[in-house]
Amino acid sequence: MRNVVTRAALAVVGRREAPRPADPAALLSALPVPVVLLDGDNRFRFVNHAAEQFLGISAGQLAQQRLIDLVPADSPIFLLIAQVRQGEVTVSDHDLTLDGPRLKKPGITVQATPLPEEPGAVLLVLQDASAARALDRQLTFRSAARSVTGMAAILAHEVKNPLSGIRGAAQLLESSVAEPDRELTVLIRDEADRIRELVDRMEIFSAKPIERGAVNIHRVLEHVRRLAQSGFAAHIRFAESYDPSLPAVHGNRDQLVQVVLNLVKNAAEAITAAGVTSGEITLITAYQHGVRMAQRGSGQRLGLPLVVAVRDNGPGIPEDIRPNLFDPFVSSKPSGSGLGLALVAKIVADHGGLIEVDSRPGRTEFRLHLPVLTDDAPDAD
Ligand SMILES: Nc1ncnc2c1ncn2[C@@H]1O[C@H](COP(=O)(O)OP(=O)(O)OP(=O)(O)O)[C@@H](O)[C@H]1O
Ligand SMILES: [Mg+2]
Repeated sequence: MRNVVTRAALAVVGRREAPRPADPAALLSALPVPVVLLDGDNRFRFVNHAAEQFLGISAGQLAQQRLIDLVPADSPIFLLIAQVRQGEVTVSDHDLTLDGPRLKKPGITVQATPLPEEPGAVLLVLQDASAARALDRQLTFRSAARSVTGMAAILAHEVKNPLSGIRGAAQLLESSVAEPDRELTVLIRDEADRIRELVDRMEIFSAKPIERGAVNIHRVLEHVRRLAQSGFAAHIRFAESYDPSLPAVHGNRDQLVQVVLNLVKNAAEAITAAGVTSGEITLITAYQHGVRMAQRGSGQRLGLPLVVAVRDNGPGIPEDIRPNLFDPFVSSKPSGSGLGLALVAKIVADHGGLIEVDSRPGRTEFRLHLPVLTDDAPDAD
């Protein structure tokens, strides 16, 4: 498929300027992303420079080898390749580990594409997580979710208990101090309440097993839209692009409401703060084959074909916070606590899903990839 695109692009260049069209292999070699072409027997037919570096083996040596010489036969990459040959579709797999005698690469995203004109041949595009981040496509921030979980537990113990002591002491003082000082005790009480509320919000993060079942994602989206339009987003237009045939999500309804609400709230706040006059939030659902993710614990790879996206035409995510977008307490808002997206990351990770973000001025989109409910999907986990 990529091949076709490349040739089409070359043809256009050729017509305008009539320079000698560049050799497609030279173009591929110049690409900073590792690209590998395998033939029907998984022999290396072509590798670009980035792939040589990535694999740590020269193109000359690779030409004598097959994929099986680099990674063991039970590696999930073989499954991926078989699936591509069988289905003739592009499949991407996230968080793969390529682990062989000469190769140790965790956290790799592999995109595999069949070549229609060469039966059996498969084009692999490899990316490690840092490259994916450089492309500004931020995958699930599982570590962020984990660090919040630990912190939530600490906060609950170390802050809440002393806080109730402080609040109680302030209340006692309130009845005995003179009127002018009472203002101060009330201040202590109110501030203690505020911190308590924050800690309560954090507690949602503590690792509890979630109960999951069949969730109609369109009902979730409509529920959030009604909430938003009757409150914080009353002045904003909503548009929908739904795939009505979408199957149920394997998830927890209340938590998914929370996720969509946090995303819609952020979108509305970005539009409002920037004073965008024709603010619009688009809610999107779609079915997409070929996105899979290793599951925590079991290592089993789960398909994530459901796409739920929230798009806005606000100013975009501020450049300086992008690298830590999903970390707790990262906020550009004067009164923001920076917990919204941390919670989104945590819930999506608990569902075994993925998040991607694309943002530029005038168009910001948060995309969730979620699992469907199937007969063999694990129940509560
Ligand atoms: N749709 C968006 N457009 C522009 N910036 C965004 C968008 N969504 C998130 N952000 C940026 O990401 C930051 C973090 O968002 P997050 O929801 O985690 O926290 P918050 O909204 O600041 O506070 P809280 O959600 O806890 O009230 C925001 O402060 C904002 O700068
Ligand atoms: Mg928020």
